[in-house]
This record gives sequence, structure tokens and C-alpha cells, in this order.
Amino acid sequence: MTHVVVLPGDGVGPEVTAEAVRILDALGIEHNEHPFGGNAILAGGPPLPEETLAACREADAVLLGAVGLPELEGAAVRPEQGLLALRKELGVYANLRPARAAGIDLLVVRELVGGLYFGAKGVRDDGTWFDTCEYTRPEVERVARRAFELARGRGGRLTSVDKVNVLHTSRLWRDVVTELGETEYPDVPLDHALVDSFAMTIVQAPHTIDVVLTENTFGDILSDVAAAVTGGLGLAASASLGDDGAGLFEPVHGSAPQIAGQGVANPAAMLRSTALLLRHALGRATDATALERAVDDALGTTATRDLGGDATTRELGDAVLAALERG
Ligand code: NAD
Ligand code: IPM
Ligand code: MN
Repeated sequence: MTHVVVLPGDGVGPEVTAEAVRILDALGIEHNEHPFGGNAILAGGPPLPEETLAACREADAVLLGAVGLPELEGAAVRPEQGLLALRKELGVYANLRPARAAGIDLLVVRELVGGLYFGAKGVRDDGTWFDTCEYTRPEVERVARRAFELARGRGGRLTSVDKVNVLHTSRLWRDVVTELGETEYPDVPLDHALVDSFAMTIVQAPHTIDVVLTENTFGDILSDVAAAVTGGLGLAASASLGDDGAGLFEPVHGSAPQIAGQGVANPAAMLRSTALLLRHALGRATDATALERAVDDALGTTATRDLGGDATTRELGDAVLAALERG
């Protein structure tokens, strides 16, 4: 029996998750909700409670809304630490962030469990605060292999993005990617770009980009830029995959505290993440494509506030369900 763990999280997380749950129900997929993030902290526990992690490990897939509460920003224990711990525990090192719009079809493959996010950090005796960017050869190789496979699978090209003119870890990154391209993927066209000018390329010429491979911090920033040029964060989905075990599926956006509680958040990013879950974790490619089409259809008639319309979260969810039923 297929089982999906649902983590609604904080802010608009529960609002957009409610629409995804209606899709799971319509498809007869069993699911359970668990505390995670700021709500778990406010309930007196850690952001990733043990029972939540245990449920995620047992699941076929994990569907996450968003975490983050303004009152916990910069606190010693933060919701976001739970998210980082969950990604690390599930070993989901490859974060796929597709961005599509008229004439644009790019895919950011972001390394998700290494780099600056997970390197040594702390405060030295002299009062200096530090974070360290660290990568090993196998960490780069496994995510690069995933990106080459994805580029090959879509008959595409790979652009590896780094900062080789400054960063030591980027020298390792570029060497590993180049070597892998030459030895295992000579059929996949490969080029390299520096992250600063590449950010400009995403803004100015997104239609020239196919698959992008980059490290954790650069991928965080570039994927929001890619979302912006294709219509905004309300539309951008993601899939985080490891070698085996449950994948983690979540929108690129956060808990959007300014609009939380109003029922106006765009659920499209969450519904597209649900489609990625159907395709990558449950092997239900036909249902995934049908859901993606239904979201596209519904967006054509029912625009939420971020897209210049006045539809509510529920109204867009209704339109997606109706489009799905029409087939
Ligand atoms: P954010 O993504 O929450 O919001 C950025 C902007 O996009 C805001 O204007 C917001 O209103 C808008 N937006 C986001 N999602 C939307 C949606 N579904 N519909 C319509 N508009 C939407 O980023 P932020 O404001 O920088 O961060 C807020 C909190 O979210 C922080 O605590 C941050 O750590 C957290 N965060 C969590 C995740 C996650 O759980 N995966 C991702 C990013 C940020
Ligand atoms: C994202 C978010 C997270 C990240 C935060 C909330 C930890 O911004 O998923 O893009 O930086 O990875
Ligand atoms: Mn981000």
C-alpha cells in the first residue's frame, strides 16, 4: 500500500497543502500528517520531532508545504534547521527545480545536502563567526551524475555553474564535472558558467538554458531567480531525491508570512510538487502529467493574487480538481 507522509508546516504551508491533499484523496493515495517546523517548536519540541522523522523514513514519499515563522527568525532553534536535518537524514542530495513558461523550459539541479549549509560553523575565541563551504569528490560526483542523466533523458545540454575564479571548492566542482562528462557522458553537451554572470543570463536569456547543475547555496538563489522569470514563486515546484528511500517534494517558496491565514496563496507550486511526487516516487507518470495539465488549464482561467487575479487558494484548487475530472 502506497503511503505519503504530509508535513503542512507553517504560514501558507497548511493552506497550499490542503489543496494537495484533495488531489491525493481523489487518486486514492493514503496519507498522514505530522508536526514539523515552527509548529513543532511552539508545541515544545524540536523542529523535526523523532516520530515525524520515523514516519518519513517509512513512507514512500514526503510532501512538505513550507516552514518558517517570523518570530523564530534568528532564534537559537529555528524551523529551517528541521528542514535541513530532514534533507540530510533522507539523503536527498539532488534537488530538481524545474522552471517553465512560454519559450522557457529549464531545470535547476541543486546539490542539497552539502556546501555552506552543512560545513563547519561556529564562533571562534576571537569573536569571529564562520560558515565553511566543503565538498568531497563523491558528493559532487553523485549529483553531477544525476544532472547528466536528466540532461541525457531530455536530449538536452548541461551547464555547470560555479565560482571557479574565486572558490577552492569550485575547482573541485569543475574538475569532477568535466571528468565525468568526458568519461561517462560524452554525448551530453557540457559547458561551465560563473554564477554571477549566469544569474544575469537567467534573467536576460532564460530560453537559452536547459539543465543547470550547481552547488547548494548558488542553487538556492538561482532557483528563486528562475522562478521569478517564469511567473513567480507561487508556481515553482521541487523534487529532492536520493539513491533510494523516500523522496521529499516541496514548493520552492517559503511560508510567505505576509499573506498567511488569508487563503490567497497560490497552490500551483504545491500541486506541481505533488505531480513530481507522483512521477518520481510513486511511478504514476500518467497521473503526474494529467495533474500538470490540469494545473496549467486552471491557471488559464483562475489566477490568484500573485498572478494579478483575485482567485483564492481554494478556488484554484477547485479549478484544478475540475480540470482533472474533465481529463
Ligand atoms: P517566501 O518564499 O516565503 O516569500 C517570498 C515572496 O513570495 C513573498 O512576497 C510571498 O508572499 C510570495 N509567495 C511565496 N509563496 C507564495 C505563494 N504560494 N503564493 C503567492 N505568493 C507567494 O520567502 P521569504 O519571505 O524570504 O521567507 C519566509 C519564510 O519562509 C522564512 O522563514 C524562510 O526561512 C522560509 N522558507 C521556507 C522554505 C521551505 O520551507 N521550503 C523555503 C523558503 C523560505
Ligand atoms: C529553499 C529554502 C531553504 C534553503 C531554507 C528554508 C532552509 O530557502 O528550500 O529554497 O535555503 O534550502
Ligand atoms: Mn530558497
